[in-house]
Amino acid sequence: MSTTALTKTPAWKALQSHHTEVGGLHLRELFAADPERGRKLSAEACGLYLDYSKNRVTDETMRLLRGLAEERGLRGRIDAMFRGDKINLTESRAVLHVALRAPRGTAIMVDGEDVVPGVHEVLDKMASFADRVRSGAWLGHTGRRIRNVINIGIGGSDLGPVMAYEALKFYSDRTLRCEFVSNVDSDDFAEAVQGLDPAETLFIISSKTFTTLETMTNAHTAREWVLRALGGDESAVAKHFVAVSTNAEKVRAFGIDTANMFGFWDWVGGRYSMDSAIGLSTMVSVGPENFRALLAGFHEMDEHFRTAPFGENLPVLMGLLAVWYADFFDAQTAAVLPYEQYLKRFPAYLQQLTMESNGKSVTLDGQTVDYSTGAVYWGEPGTNGQHSFYQLIHQGTHLIPCDFIGFARTLNPIGRHHDILMANMFAQAEALAFGKTAEEVRAEGTADALVPHRVFAGNRPSNTLLAGVIDPATLGKLVALYEHSVFTQGVIWNINSFDQWGVELGKVLAQRIVPELESKDAPDLEHDSSTNALIRRYRAQR
Ligand code: F6P
Repeated sequence: MSTTALTKTPAWKALQSHHTEVGGLHLRELFAADPERGRKLSAEACGLYLDYSKNRVTDETMRLLRGLAEERGLRGRIDAMFRGDKINLTESRAVLHVALRAPRGTAIMVDGEDVVPGVHEVLDKMASFADRVRSGAWLGHTGRRIRNVINIGIGGSDLGPVMAYEALKFYSDRTLRCEFVSNVDSDDFAEAVQGLDPAETLFIISSKTFTTLETMTNAHTAREWVLRALGGDESAVAKHFVAVSTNAEKVRAFGIDTANMFGFWDWVGGRYSMDSAIGLSTMVSVGPENFRALLAGFHEMDEHFRTAPFGENLPVLMGLLAVWYADFFDAQTAAVLPYEQYLKRFPAYLQQLTMESNGKSVTLDGQTVDYSTGAVYWGEPGTNGQHSFYQLIHQGTHLIPCDFIGFARTLNPIGRHHDILMANMFAQAEALAFGKTAEEVRAEGTADALVPHRVFAGNRPSNTLLAGVIDPATLGKLVALYEHSVFTQGVIWNINSFDQWGVELGKVLAQRIVPELESKDAPDLEHDSSTNALIRRYRAQR
């Protein structure tokens, strides 16, 4: 681990002075200077093609960024993660989501124990469960076949499963209905079970800790919903509830037989867990074979990240570019724009992955940073976003680097749809990069007064990721790509990408406020005047 303050390192200073030279260059000039740029500034691995030529970089920028990665010890930090070192220092934990997709027979040691056999034991147990539900062999309490599977979880125990369910819907068993309940807002539960028969419904309670307020509240509500409908017989719980957790004791206390529990480990972070047992709903939906293909995709990208030289390494390239914009262009946000409707929840999934990981302002040794860390990630699928927020990306005052994600083939070839979709993706990246000058606007016969409104400054950077088709393996590769890009950024910034202390305070304060809302008599409120007034108004109006 590098202990030199980042902004004092030679590589950082070199990038700063380089930025004063190239920061103002326009992509039009960069492309004009090198007709081969589009081909040269690209990399391909694991069936994913990354075109990063529409970034505000030169060969020298990329060389300096790679130098920064070397200087920050990225190679050693990658090795440390894959080796199972306890790189999550504030929680004293290894960070081994890569072990979740390690093939049978490989070995990764944590505290002297090879964790890979345990991973495959759980995968096999998940597969046998998924097969039983899918085949109809798993019956509900009254002997009826399971038709509805509801995952209850939040954060990493929800966003990955929902995203994967949507992304892989084409491959799903359409006779099974999958629902996801995350919010403690009762609207979420009520709508998910609307019209469902409890006798045909199976709940997967997904929670690493099995203590999360939202998940436990929803789990208890689900339990009551099932028992009320099935005559109150407690033995129904075993047929309608399974758990995914690291906490066997709490699972047992809830009343779920630990035989119906699928475990994982403290070295899997919540937002890195969609390929652990947290993916049980995914496996039930698409089947064990597709789930294994997903894992193989993850693993292929892991190996690429672990072994490829930085100049060809997709996650490293994307991570370094993210640092370049956050720290040298002061870009506050980054947009993720999948041109694939099946990836509609991918930006939401990435929000937790990126922001819970790199939303930090102290270094690993507790020093306050004097540079920007993780950007705000957001996005929507194209072309929908084009008719909503792209205006700001094209002509607003903020620099928003974009990731376009597209596929050469569609799973639903209908007429001209796919070509039109992809034409739009290519056009947007082109328009952002090159814009339209005042001369060009004038030459179209535009009235002088309108010219400034119709000018596109361009020089708005983007990456384009192009893959074959959305399938389980490709999804695994894409997710691993972003996981490792996030890791790369965290290493450069010398922050802990694997803890999330920032979510704690609000949780504690909420627990204090709950009884103040529920008490019969007006409570003595000792908050600030704003919070006190809001609580009183709520009590008066509810
Ligand atoms: O509140 C943040 C968080 O701890 C996330 O990191 C995690 O993914 C989520 O809550 C859910 O936690 P659990 O799986 O333990 O219920």
